[in-house]
Amino acid sequence: MSIDRCHVRDLPRITDVRGNLSYVEGPSLVPFDIQRVYYLYDVPGGADRGAHAHKALHQLVIALSGAFDIVLDDGKNRKSVRLDRAYKSLYICPMIWRTLNNFSSGAVCLVLASERYDESDYIRDYDDFLKAVNRQEIVE
Ligand code: TYD
Repeated sequence: MSIDRCHVRDLPRITDVRGNLSYVEGPSLVPFDIQRVYYLYDVPGGADRGAHAHKALHQLVIALSGAFDIVLDDGKNRKSVRLDRAYKSLYICPMIWRTLNNFSSGAVCLVLASERYDESDYIRDYDDFLKAVNRQEIVE
């Protein structure tokens, strides 16, 4: 899998003097069925989250409040995406090593996920991730 498959997309925005509204709905805005929603909050300054890959999980990440960076790494290339608007979403395909950092104070990171929580879907060691990427390339 390539980081080129991970993309930032603006969600619809219904602007209103009473406050703005955005929404996420499938299949055009979420390219998978949502099985789980989780969120990160109260992240202390300087903390990193993530630092793992998923074998099969698809995710859509939204900075509901505040801002943070997501560093995406496919074993060959790396890019950093800053989510800083509640109407921006980042799609992350399987087999991407991701690290979340530079959280602003009060940031809330919402994640829509294609599967329920399953520890066996994680790759938590970077060397294991590189080995899995190389194995995948041999098969393809
Ligand atoms: P983890 O995914 O490692 O957090 P992050 O990558 O954001 O640093 O999850 C941290 C802990 O929370 C870990 O013990 C698993 C647990 N967890 C759940 O029980 N359910 C979930 O949906 C998620 C995302 C994590």
